[in-house]
Amino acid sequence: MSEQVYAAITAWGFSVPEKVLTNHDLERMVETSDEWIRTRTGIGERHVVSEGEFTSTLALAAARKALAQANLPAAELDLIIVCTATPDYPFPATACIVQEQLGATRATAFDLEAACSGFVYGLNVATQFIKTGAMKNILVIGAETLSRFVNWKDRTTCVLFADGAGAVLLQPSHEQSGILSFYSASSGEGAELIIERAGGSRYPANQPMPPQHDCYIHMAGQEVFKQAVRVMGDDSMEAIARAGLHPSQIDLFIPHQANVRIIEAMAKKFELPMAKFFVNIEYYGNTSAASIPIALCEAVEQGKLKPGALVCMAAFGAGITHGALVIRWNPGPFGEL
Ligand SMILES: CC(C)(COP(=O)(O)OP(=O)(O)OC[C@H]1O[C@@H](n2cnc3c(N)ncnc32)[C@H](O)[C@@H]1OP(=O)(O)O)[C@@H](O)C(=O)NCCC(=O)NCCS
Repeated sequence: MSEQVYAAITAWGFSVPEKVLTNHDLERMVETSDEWIRTRTGIGERHVVSEGEFTSTLALAAARKALAQANLPAAELDLIIVCTATPDYPFPATACIVQEQLGATRATAFDLEAACSGFVYGLNVATQFIKTGAMKNILVIGAETLSRFVNWKDRTTCVLFADGAGAVLLQPSHEQSGILSFYSASSGEGAELIIERAGGSRYPANQPMPPQHDCYIHMAGQEVFKQAVRVMGDDSMEAIARAGLHPSQIDLFIPHQANVRIIEAMAKKFELPMAKFFVNIEYYGNTSAASIPIALCEAVEQGKLKPGALVCMAAFGAGITHGALVIRWNPGPFGEL
């Protein structure tokens, strides 16, 4: 037992919309095929929101599951961070909508926008508040409704992105738990590689509407692919080294689920079997900031994360933002700090 304070992940939950869109459904919408999508990306189906569902709807459902698991009243929360690139509105923050609907009356709430790296960045930010002793109960939620921002006529993007949310509760512990090390960085020079131009101050409300194509996600797929393979591998390597570990000591990698071929390239780089990499992209597609927390929840559900396990999470997204974390999976229970 050390006197150091760790930010343990003590509860978790995820939520995806009920509506499922299969590759065969997409075959009827754009010129594509189940075979192309599966072999080039690993995706078989994805969940998409219906009318009346928003990013906050999914975030709220995931948050409620995590709080129920912890048996923690929402009023005990100190902070809610919603990591999202697809908020309900430019402002107010989706986190404030979630805060109100949860009844988290004492909580500070804000959104964190780091696209697909959002959850990795958010977990890191929340951990600092706990380590300093400033806060005790923090919800970090990755939530997205990318289906609202893709051009359903553009086969190069609409087959990839999807909707969902995952939430974790962070609480202090003296036992080794949560983030042990991290490495993160951003490269703004890659801003044009993944971009959705409308919706911000570059298109003032008193000017004519932006061209329709600027309201959709644009992505230079091949360049993004190349950079993601390099960076997610390098970042993981760095985070693992900073934890004083060797890649072979990691029990489970939980990478951002953007393309199964990116994950396979990581496994090759580390000379590790694919069994060490959690993959669920087949059923969810790329849910951006929600992909890692959804994968984390499923890894626990499937018994792939045993208490004490060492986990490496790595993400890459628009910005460009990227980073990796090494986590000790030790969810408690712990005594009061
Ligand atoms: C987008 C991505 C799947 C495309 O795969 P790719 O193997 O690079 O495919 P290419 O872009 O080279 O396209 C190959 C061909 O398939 C076609 N194609 C693209 N999308 C298609 C689809 N959905 N169905 C059928 N054909 C498609 C292209 O038009 C191209 O045809 P052409 O050779 O006649 O010009 C891949 O680049 C990727 O995953 N990139 C990274 C995505 C990512 O990680 N994004 C988020 C980061 S968080």
